[in-house]
Amino acid sequence: VSASEPPASLRPPERLLCGPGPTNVDPRVLAALAKPILGHLDPDFLRALEEVVAMLHAVFRRSDGMAFALSSTGTAGADAGIAALVGPGDTVVVGVAGYFGERLCEMARRHGAEVVKVEVSPGASVPVDRVEEALRAHPEARLLALVHAETSTGVEQPLDGVAALLAGRETLLVLDCVTSLGGVAVEAESWGADYCFSCSQKCIGAPPGLAPVCLSERALARIRGRSRPVSFVFDFELLASYWTSRPPVYHHTAPVNEVYALHEALRLLLEEGLEARFARHADAGAYLQEGLRGRGLELLADPEVQLPQLTAVRVPEGRDGREVQRRLLLEHGIEIGGSLVSTPAWRIGLMGANAERSVADRVLDALDAVLAQV
Ligand SMILES: Cc1ncc(COP(=O)(O)O)c(C=O)c1O
Repeated sequence: VSASEPPASLRPPERLLCGPGPTNVDPRVLAALAKPILGHLDPDFLRALEEVVAMLHAVFRRSDGMAFALSSTGTAGADAGIAALVGPGDTVVVGVAGYFGERLCEMARRHGAEVVKVEVSPGASVPVDRVEEALRAHPEARLLALVHAETSTGVEQPLDGVAALLAGRETLLVLDCVTSLGGVAVEAESWGADYCFSCSQKCIGAPPGLAPVCLSERALARIRGRSRPVSFVFDFELLASYWTSRPPVYHHTAPVNEVYALHEALRLLLEEGLEARFARHADAGAYLQEGLRGRGLELLADPEVQLPQLTAVRVPEGRDGREVQRRLLLEHGIEIGGSLVSTPAWRIGLMGANAERSVADRVLDALDAVLAQV
């Protein structure tokens, strides 16, 4: 490639995206990306932002506080929240059931926090009584961080009883909802979650690039009370003055067309209805998991906490897991994920538009064909 001879225009192949995300999106969402670009302060675009805010409140199930999307991915959603809610020397309790819990620890450490880990082996969820013990031993904890859907193992973290543990404490609850939002129920308000972050590219069904978040009044009060401001780019008060204050105050140039895509994806989600959407994910996931078990494959997650939208499958002894992934991609056009934990595994996602039995059948058929060769 040289300046005088630029490369040919991109022609990305059509893939069936059944990894941990991104997932394929509905044609309506792709079409939204191609709508006319507006200025980020145009009144018509501001109306779109307001509608995204309202739809995010509905999807996170949070009536109070704030909801909007960061112009970045789930990783920034995590980092921005931790940065805003803790300071150097603060104690942070983190539930670690896999790779993404571990990353929350690392982020908290980088912001100067003392991390108390509540760790379980891959496949398990974090028992609420272990969290209770940690909070009893560390009443000074400023934050409890849990991964609602641990994408490295396919485990859903039960949250019943967590709000009760935090009642009357100064400990705020942060939830990683990157893989859960739009696929299984998220109840930010009734779970007492003070900060939830997610992504656009998984069960929400939009392209990657935005991180929906929601904050409780308590989280907003803590942010207002900080003695040292956080980074300019992820300052929630400045972001709110663009997303929700009217007239808006410029903070950064929003990725206008990605916001259109998120808007359309959220419209689709609410047209379908939250309950119907969760039922569709539950049905497709259970169908896939039954098919995998029927083929003698073992799943990583304990069955009682298995997520429907993400299934981690142990690579059978003697098989080359990476070669299976490579052939699925190149010979069948199907992407699945590899392992992020020490156990060799494949991670199969049925998220958003792909949460269908017909998609599960395509993955299972292709897997049969590849496993007959590798
Ligand atoms: C549970 C969880 N948290 C955080 C992230 C990071 O999100 P992103 O890749 O959008 O930055 C992911 C991505 O897969 C995830 O699954």
